[in-house]
Amino acid sequence: QNITIINGPNLNLLGVREPEIYGSESINSVLDKLRQAYPGVTVDYFQSNHEGDLIDCLQKYGFEPGRGIVLNAGAYTHTSLAIADCIAAIKAPVVEVHISNVHAREPFRHQSMLSRVCRGVILGFGTDVYRLAIEALLKL
Ligand code: DQA
Repeated sequence: QNITIINGPNLNLLGVREPEIYGSESINSVLDKLRQAYPGVTVDYFQSNHEGDLIDCLQKYGFEPGRGIVLNAGAYTHTSLAIADCIAAIKAPVVEVHISNVHAREPFRHQSMLSRVCRGVILGFGTDVYRLAIEALLKL
């Protein structure tokens, strides 16, 4: 099985950005551990700060048989009808993830435009949410 992890805006700063909320581990360290833990699984990674690039990436992988997608759309989670439409359009299952427990934070983070069209949602367990999402996808 093939997995694509897609990270949205500001998640390139993981480890540096607000470590009290998002932890101090870099995305490269997270990816290294995942690839070691799942040697039989191809784990592709894409990050962009641009909404349209995230959509292009979802479309690129979204029609590949055996592909699962883990998506942390960052703040676009709360605003992007375009990303929601894209998730609805593609065939691959998408797991929405958030490093922080968005429901314990500001009210404007409580609503997700994406959850309705995602296969499931995992949030609040720090960067371990990426591993938990892969576990869920592999069992589908
Ligand atoms: C986030 C939560 C979002 O509200 C925020 O805009 C992010 C990161 C998370 O992983 O906790 O950029 O998706």
